[in-house]
Amino acid sequence: VWNATDAREIIAAEQHREGAMLPILHALQAAFGYIPRDAEPLIAEALNLSRAEVHGVISFYHDFRREPAGRHVLKLCRAEACQSMGSEVTAQRLLDLLGLDWGETSPDGRITIEPVYCLGLCATAPSALFDDEPIGRADQQMLETLVMEAA
Ligand code: FES
Repeated sequence: VWNATDAREIIAAEQHREGAMLPILHALQAAFGYIPRDAEPLIAEALNLSRAEVHGVISFYHDFRREPAGRHVLKLCRAEACQSMGSEVTAQRLLDLLGLDWGETSPDGRITIEPVYCLGLCATAPSALFDDEPIGRADQQMLETLVMEAA
């Protein structure tokens, strides 16, 4: 749960490193599961940057979540080897089935679908990560089963 006091401590622990922004963002996401907008001014102040600069960095990296994730997170690979094995079509069907867009969470809070760009599992493309568990040959049926069974 977001808490500005904890966030300040996390930022203070990292802020004197070279290139502190990314370590701070990763640490905040690890602690809270996402990077709340309220964290932006705290980071900006600590690093002597504008809030817009901090916002720009967070938006640039698709690794950073802007809202809390669902109970399960399914990351679908959208890089080249997986695309050549039909990952985009599969992903779109799954998103349509759930009525979600990339990065969104189902209204019941069950699942978040996020993009990822190469998991190093190209040999078993299309690849995915389900709650950090790698999945190869992630075809339509397998993904639908996973998503439907996720409680
Ligand atoms: Fe998808 Fe490498 S391109 S795992």
